[in-house]
Amino acid sequence: MQVFEHITDTTDFIQSQKNNGKQIGFVPTMGALHDGHISLVNRAREENDMVVASIFVNPIQFNNKEDLEKYPRKPQRDMDLLKVAGCNVVFHPSAKEMYPDEVTRKYDFGSLEKVMEGKFRPGHFNGVAVVVKKLFDIISPDNAYFGEKDFQQLAVIKALVKKENIPVNIISCPTIRESDGLAMSSRNERLNKEQRKLAPVLYKTLKEIRERIHKKPIPEIISWATGEINQYPEMKVEYIEIVDSETLLPLQTFNNNVPSRICIAAILGPVRLIDNISLNMN
Ligand code: PAJ
Repeated sequence: MQVFEHITDTTDFIQSQKNNGKQIGFVPTMGALHDGHISLVNRAREENDMVVASIFVNPIQFNNKEDLEKYPRKPQRDMDLLKVAGCNVVFHPSAKEMYPDEVTRKYDFGSLEKVMEGKFRPGHFNGVAVVVKKLFDIISPDNAYFGEKDFQQLAVIKALVKKENIPVNIISCPTIRESDGLAMSSRNERLNKEQRKLAPVLYKTLKEIRERIHKKPIPEIISWATGEINQYPEMKVEYIEIVDSETLLPLQTFNNNVPSRICIAAILGPVRLIDNISLNMN
């Protein structure tokens, strides 16, 4: 496995591989890897000749200083996991390498960046779009792999690729969960034992919403679900929304013919958890 810290070395190596006809699968990450990340690497390995992963805790997508400072960093362990998973190249730049100058680019993703996460994390998706565009320019992947865990991010990245005419296929991959249902996330390790025990209530509530969707009006279900989570003093719902899977705009009524998603964000102790599931029964 090759590890590069500089952009030019990475680009030179990848271009030489592309000139040899290799198809490149790319998995961008912020490190502190878990099985969710590794599932993307596995999929990329199955579908491409070469897998490139990036590890970069992107400062400009954090709207909360403490979240950035406390974001787990374990590059050596990450390298070991990527090697075992069959990754071929890791791009692991410094912030200075990625952003030698002040970032001024402002994207407009319309309502996609204003709802849900956009409302609670101003500037977050602009920071994601800037770094992903830059990573795509460096890696020139044929296919890039993103998790449904960050459903709104996936929508923003699809919009970015369309807007900028970037020749890459965006492949969405299912959310990998712990055995008790908690969606895997690098931030979960900041939960203490008690908080960790409570955390699966998010997924449990998502599934219960899906069961109720045919029986009650949406506002009633959302207010019930909010109460289910807020009954725990350490938890606080930021939003629970039932949205159109394409536009991410809230739905007033449920129609099984319209792809729909339930999305949730809640604070639990020191971290903010997000999760989502599809509402459509197949
Ligand atoms: P990060 O949170 O490290 O996630 C990297 C990729 O792993 C994202 O596509 C994310 O959706 C996916 N992922 C995270 N948890 C997952 C899970 N439980 N199951 C499946 N996939 C999961 O998302 C980012 O980093 C950054 O915003 C990034 C795109 C790298 C830009 O900085």
